[in-house]
Amino acid sequence: MKHLAVIMDGNGRYAEQRGLERKQGHFMGAEAFVTLVRDFPLLPLEIITVYAFSTENYKRPKDEVNSILKIIATFLENKVYKIARENNVTVKFIGDIYSLPEYFHKIIVSAPVFDSDSKIIVIALNYGGLDEVCRAVNKIQAKKINFITEEIIKDNLDTCGLPFPDAVLRYGGEKRLSNFLPLQTIYSELFFINKFWPEYDKSDILFIIEQFGKIKRKFGGLND
Ligand code: IPE
Ligand code: IPE
Ligand code: MG
Repeated sequence: MKHLAVIMDGNGRYAEQRGLERKQGHFMGAEAFVTLVRDFPLLPLEIITVYAFSTENYKRPKDEVNSILKIIATFLENKVYKIARENNVTVKFIGDIYSLPEYFHKIIVSAPVFDSDSKIIVIALNYGGLDEVCRAVNKIQAKKINFITEEIIKDNLDTCGLPFPDAVLRYGGEKRLSNFLPLQTIYSELFFINKFWPEYDKSDILFIIEQFGKIKRKFGGLND
């Protein structure tokens, strides 16, 4: 497996079940993400994409939305970038990042970037699959391209230049994609784990990689 996409779900329920506030769950979810970034050099993966905040998550109470975004910003600046730099990991963003609060802009432009051989963490932030498709179509229109090919679609998605995920792993127990990478997951293997994201452990991913290895992937053909 080269590219694993992770839906970091279940922060709120993790906190509520422990009598804590949902925002505390988001804080613990951010800590779990830091652990994942620390583990990345030890994992046999080249790219990890994580779903951090969806376009639909804006429907939540303002207070929760503000807490989530502030926690993400603080963890990126204070922890994630440092670990990524120490390990030659490039950090990229997908999603409608220009609509995020202003304080994110300088954080996003200061993300560590290494050469094309480095491992990559892709953070889906203010990301919605349908929103991404709309923005892709508008980009294509602005370029006055009127014959659309699969390549043109791929090149105008936020994930341009990245391979599609081989697998998606969702935490939190729900079995849905929640507007995450609808085009990019057309041939992804789907895994769901009955643990909340703050309970992340490296062994979860190693187990998924092992299961993935047993699957015969055919991509519509007869062989892999
Ligand atoms: C995922 O955890 C984090 C975000 C959506 C930002 P949730 O906040 O969705 O946690 P649950 O699903 O309510 O437990
Ligand atoms: C998906 O989780 C989004 C993230 C993990 C960032 P949600 O909690 O928003 O998804 P639904 O509402 O259960 O579909
Ligand atoms: Mg959720």
